Amino acid sequence: MADASEIVTRVIARRRSIKPSQFSDTPVSDEFVWKILESANWAPTHGMTEPWRFHVYAGESREQLGIRLSEIYNEITPPESRKPGKAEKLLTNARQSSHLIVIAMKRQESGKIPEIEEVEAVACAVQNLHLAATALGIGGYWSSGKAICSDQLRDWLGLGENDKVLGLFYVGYPAGDWPEGQRGPVTDKVTWND
Ligand SMILES: Cc1cc2nc3c(=O)[nH]c(=O)nc-3n(C[C@H](O)[C@H](O)[C@H](O)COP(=O)(O)O)c2cc1C
Repeated sequence: MADASEIVTRVIARRRSIKPSQFSDTPVSDEFVWKILESANWAPTHGMTEPWRFHVYAGESREQLGIRLSEIYNEITPPESRKPGKAEKLLTNARQSSHLIVIAMKRQESGKIPEIEEVEAVACAVQNLHLAATALGIGGYWSSGKAICSDQLRDWLGLGENDKVLGLFYVGYPAGDWPEGQRGPVTDKVTWND
């Protein structure tokens, strides 16, 4: 039996971005989605503001989110700049996912905590969620396209004008093998002083 440190280290290295096109048709249970959201909720938070907000789309509602995202993409992208198939992909991604989790940051009323720290806290929450998903064999990835992170989606969700949508986490079981990861050596990123 591996000790806790070994398990954590392994899960962290195993976490991968797995996209809806790589998902199987097998749905993830709502119970597991609640489980990963519970892990997200244990993120660190300066001033205990707990700024992470998650809007989950399951079942029929996935289609509504996919349609709205496609519309937003076309609304905010001039025709000459539209990538072929991009609007349709937003809808296909929604259909291919078991659940979609919109990742948002709720801005503190007083604005005392710097906004970047609130964004950082949400990123920690997403990492917790992604690691918990990995431990359950659930795939997913954080997508941050411009339609997703738009004011239009923020308004559609009924968030405040100082709140921010930071991305969309697609959830599903991978159809094939779990992908391999790739990183340069940590020694390139560390300055060590004795
Ligand atoms: C804040 C954030 C936003 C991201 N947005 C996108 C995205 O819009 N599209 C995408 O393909 N991947 C996105 N990713 C995932 C990265 O592509 C992925 O983490 C990277 O390729 C490394 O792969 P790994 O997560 O499997 O280690 C995002 C990751 C983060 C942290």
